[in-house]
Amino acid sequence: MDQVNGSVVTEFVLLGLTQSLGMQVFLFLFFSLFYVGIILGNLFIMLTMIFDSHLHSPMYILLANLSFIDLGLSSTTVPRMIFDLFSGCKIISFHNCMIQMFFIHVMGGAELVVLIAMAYDRYTAICKPLHYLTTMNPKMCMLLIVAAWIIGVIHAVSQFVFVINLPFCGPNNVGSFYCDFPRVIKLACMDTYSLEFVVTANSGFISMGTFFFLIVSYIFILITVRQHSAKNLSKAFITLSAHITVVVLFFTPCMFLYVWPFPTKSMDKFFAIVDFVITPLLNPAIYTLRNRDMKVAMRRLIRQVVSSREIP
Ligand SMILES: *[C@@H]1O[C@H](CO)[C@@H](O)[C@H](O)[C@H]1NC(C)=O
Repeated sequence: MDQVNGSVVTEFVLLGLTQSLGMQVFLFLFFSLFYVGIILGNLFIMLTMIFDSHLHSPMYILLANLSFIDLGLSSTTVPRMIFDLFSGCKIISFHNCMIQMFFIHVMGGAELVVLIAMAYDRYTAICKPLHYLTTMNPKMCMLLIVAAWIIGVIHAVSQFVFVINLPFCGPNNVGSFYCDFPRVIKLACMDTYSLEFVVTANSGFISMGTFFFLIVSYIFILITVRQHSAKNLSKAFITLSAHITVVVLFFTPCMFLYVWPFPTKSMDKFFAIVDFVITPLLNPAIYTLRNRDMKVAMRRLIRQVVSSREIP
């Protein structure tokens, strides 16, 4: 038994979402289907971007990176959850639990920065069109992506250091389908009030701050578009409403997971499903189905694949 700083708990129990067998079968089908969709949809966006030189603009480079992060974020929890639905004891080792929390926050932090980068890209394109090519150059894109990952790691580490050394002496029931800071901290056998504040301040206020910042930015961009012409408005509105939908969907669960002060702790796991299963699938759907460039590029890619198959 490996002991971590005198604690006796070496594994946690994940209660999962439901105890009823019928519900478990339904969830198994639902999550399996969605996860396959997440893999295919996001891979498709990344491949389309990489192989189609027409899409090598900042907006699509950022979108492809968002797809990569979405796929990663979803993979931190969903495969395990699907597997756990049919295993009798849903036990996760202390280390795997820590690793899971760490990667959830690396990916989540990176996603947050990429969403800001995408808003900044649209802001420059729409409000400062003359400077767009000089501001959003490939170097800037690279910089934003590198910054996203660095900030993701800092965000995760800055919470992780407080949790890794906590004493756990039981109970060890996490009560959700995955490990995350707010729930795991509650299991420590010491007064965790200040730690809960650290997590709320870090994950909660940062995500809420980003949320309001993004919404205000998009409103500002929309107002700017409106001052120009009605024709531009409808086209920009389609792009922007896609971005706004993603932002609202992504951040609403964050609010319930990290900020909501009232004891709705049995509900938060259902909100978490949105971030791990719904938004990663919706991103490809929203961005591709409503975007003409992307549709044209996909047709081109499919044609290339088909014609390369015909000519051996
Ligand atoms: C993410 O962004 C980088 C830097 O701009 C780019 O080179 C890379 O192709 C993007 N990643 C994906 C998966 O498209």
